Amino acid sequence: MFYPEELVEEVRQKNDIVDVVSGYVKLQKKGGSFWGLCPFHNEKSPSFSVSGDKQMYHCFGCGEGGNVFTFLMKYENFTFPEAVRALADRAGVTLPREEQSEETRRRANRRARLLEVNREAAKYFYYQLRSPHGENGLRYLKKRELSDETIHRFGLGYAGKSGASLVEYLREKGFEDELIKEAGLATFSEKRGLVSQFWNRVMFPIQDINHRVIGFGGRVMGDGEPKYLNSPETPVFDKRRNLYGLNYARTARVGNLILCEGYMDVIAMHQAGFTQAVASLGTAFTAEQAALLHRYTENVLLAYDSDGAGVKAALRGIGILREAGITGKVIDMRPYKDPDEFIKNLGKEAFQERIDHAENSFFFEIRILEGQFDQGDPEEKTRFHREIAKKLCEFTEDVERENYLQAVADKYHIGFENLRKLVTAYAAQTGLAKPVWRPRSGVQQRSDPEENAKKSQRLLITWITDEPQIYGKISRYVTAEDFTEELYRKVAGRLFEELDQGSFHPAGIISMFEDEEEQREAASLFNASLPRLENIKEREKALHDILYSVKKNSYEYYTAKLGTDVNALKQVIDGKKALEELAKTHISLDAG
Ligand code: UTP
Ligand code: MN
Repeated sequence: MFYPEELVEEVRQKNDIVDVVSGYVKLQKKGGSFWGLCPFHNEKSPSFSVSGDKQMYHCFGCGEGGNVFTFLMKYENFTFPEAVRALADRAGVTLPREEQSEETRRRANRRARLLEVNREAAKYFYYQLRSPHGENGLRYLKKRELSDETIHRFGLGYAGKSGASLVEYLREKGFEDELIKEAGLATFSEKRGLVSQFWNRVMFPIQDINHRVIGFGGRVMGDGEPKYLNSPETPVFDKRRNLYGLNYARTARVGNLILCEGYMDVIAMHQAGFTQAVASLGTAFTAEQAALLHRYTENVLLAYDSDGAGVKAALRGIGILREAGITGKVIDMRPYKDPDEFIKNLGKEAFQERIDHAENSFFFEIRILEGQFDQGDPEEKTRFHREIAKKLCEFTEDVERENYLQAVADKYHIGFENLRKLVTAYAAQTGLAKPVWRPRSGVQQRSDPEENAKKSQRLLITWITDEPQIYGKISRYVTAEDFTEELYRKVAGRLFEELDQGSFHPAGIISMFEDEEEQREAASLFNASLPRLENIKEREKALHDILYSVKKNSYEYYTAKLGTDVNALKQVIDGKKALEELAKTHISLDAG
């Protein structure tokens, strides 16, 4: 950690979260907490709560949460040390001199070094673009109708024809060859030593949500192969969990996000005022990215290429979004290939119109399906209708299924009752009396054993934090080792340690993590929705169930690790004993 832990904790305790958040969000007191409109997603009624007791905030709409540091990191795009500095300033706490500790941190933190070498490389490319060597690149970007402002905003650059100079530059700046290689900026060859990876390309720095450069995409000038060359995955560049343009898009707050395929598409859309556009990073769209989007919006518009590959990718994307609880819509780009070409040819007003008329993803799927059957042939047409029925079966909610059934029957001139019979027949035939499909709300998860186990663990931690007096009653059954997720284990370990010592600060525990995403996840452990039960017997039963389920999962987890983990055997033996004891123990919630 950059600053000593005690100091970070002092800064936190001197900045009341209600005060700090009130500076950004209008809060109203209701019950024990303060409520307001969530600044991290678009909403009309308040689901954002700030608790003075816990010194944490939590949004019941988008799941965002954390302590006072997390809040500033998210709202102001601060890094953790920046948030600490800002709040230290605010409370008049003196921090150790920056230069010194920055230097220590540099040595200690490889991630930070990678980010630095990336930033330096981005700077290098940026200046190259403006130097005489960059003429080709600049001409290319101008030809693609990018304004100076856009080029600047996205930090675009140019990698020249001589592969040696970037490496020289970075060495001069004090970066070791090993690091330059690890960042994917250069590769080593026996003959030529360390040579730059990117060569004769315009460079797109890829930034995380905090505007830190985590990797690059480089587009070749003209028709070379590959068209785009991307940085490899590194400790700071996780292609599954980042999206190009999200650093800007997340604050666009227009009620939707646009997902597309290309860097150029994102940039063209932003230039035209559609600053809510993002793209995946040269790889297929992932479930992690869908979850990331879901933190900001329920409405995702797909702006994929209009060709066959694009349609296929869109169909895949729709499925992934649906799994994440998002009903996507599809923007029709025809007759153009992609958003960039569309906007160039028809302008932004026309694009806005396409956004307004984006097609519901279900109808998009049906329309694509329609093209696969010869509608003139009765046999094929019947098969098409069966496929529709099959898709309709995927809706678990009756009302929703009925609504879609009605709409699709109207649209394709199929008799409503006939189509419904097909649906019933299909459901019966496949044994899906009640067809199963992922819920749409995203609040409930699919019943995934791993997610259930994590949920019990969150519930237990939240319950203990809300009512610390129960800790004494259950501490003999549960240890930090029962938390099978690494981050959970760290949080539980610290929490139990503090409780054993008789003083605990859940909000302080969150600052053990420097990464915003980790802080958010740590915070979620303190904000699980506990069952609202009045009756003490029911509460006792609920607590017992949660504890039992945590223990049982832990027992199974370590059983599976027997033979590969030296610690497992002890956990299994202890776990078995605790489970047996718990099964016949009543935990009383009576005061005292
Ligand atoms: P496209 O080929 O559709 O890109 O690839 P584009 O944005 O239209 O490219 P321009 O307009 O010709 O410059 C879409 C995305 O797929 C990835 C890149 O992320 C690109 O933005 N891609 C494409 C690669 O990673 N490598 C490639 O060789 C091609
Ligand atoms: Mn293009």
